[in-house]
Amino acid sequence: MQEPPSNAFEEKSILKMLLTDDGSYTLFDSESGELFHNRAGALTEALHNYLKPSRALDTLISAGQLRVLDVCFGLGYNSFVLLEEALRTEVPGRISIVAIEKDPAVLAMCTEVLKDERLSHLRNCIGERFPQSGFTYENGFITIEMQIMPNDFRTVITELTCDFDLVFHDPFSPRNAAQLWTVDIFKQYQRLLESRSGAVLTYSSAVAVRSALRMTGFDVRRTAAVGGKSGGTLATLNSSYYSDEYKCFSLSCQEEGRLLTSSAVPYRDPSFSADSRTVSNLRQQELKKISEQRKPA
Ligand SMILES: C[S@@+](CC[C@H](N)C(=O)[O-])C[C@H]1O[C@@H](n2cnc3c(N)ncnc32)[C@H](O)[C@@H]1O
Repeated sequence: MQEPPSNAFEEKSILKMLLTDDGSYTLFDSESGELFHNRAGALTEALHNYLKPSRALDTLISAGQLRVLDVCFGLGYNSFVLLEEALRTEVPGRISIVAIEKDPAVLAMCTEVLKDERLSHLRNCIGERFPQSGFTYENGFITIEMQIMPNDFRTVITELTCDFDLVFHDPFSPRNAAQLWTVDIFKQYQRLLESRSGAVLTYSSAVAVRSALRMTGFDVRRTAAVGGKSGGTLATLNSSYYSDEYKCFSLSCQEEGRLLTSSAVPYRDPSFSADSRTVSNLRQQELKKISEQRKPA
């Protein structure tokens, strides 16, 4: 990871952008101590863990529309890479994105992200400044509607009623933000995807995350590895639509095996309001109970 050269933009901003190995930017989150993206590249991660396995453009071609819920929108890479590809390839149809990001200071940095030449089609259609509440764009072949909700997604998720084709789930890791990876959140995604043949995509391959998705009724697959990581997860209610051909693979025997161990005990928070420590402690208590029950009498 190299730091970008100092410039006026950096001096003005509170958050410091860092360059990843593919030349795209990420941010450092001081609360979790995590980078927003894989060091191999923010853009590369969006492409391999989100866009490619999602079959987003196939869905757009076959249905004429695509509805995406982008949770923890951050610098916007997951949606931006999708929109750039749709604009570049001139796939006709309507793309609607509901993006949720709680930090306005992060949203303010999206304008810098859009300066990347690899996002030039998108920049040309929305202009130099990224509109923080979203935008609508229409030309002869494509209509784009992006709505940005400036909320903690847990406070709005139960109220969302639209049907989505895809959910991009991109919070900080379960180790630091356990409250954002609960079985209760995944049940909401199941509800929002139910009438479509869609999928939830995330960079995480954590056993507790995959098991929670499976418990909720999803078929779980592994997506391609990015950098040194082991590959993310695609969870779908329509397993016949996704296969190795689309860069999402059946879990290996080892991965299946881990789902049978105590690591598979999920995070829970039916209140949608607990903090990470409370959610982790509850999981520890559940693990303890299970191990006591397993002890020979
Ligand atoms: C790992 S970064 C996301 C990276 C992002 N998808 C991108 O492409 O740049 C996590 C983001 O989630 C946001 N976030 C954390 N907790 C949240 C919550 N409860 N609701 C909404 N956004 C949240 C953070 O502000 C941060 O921008």
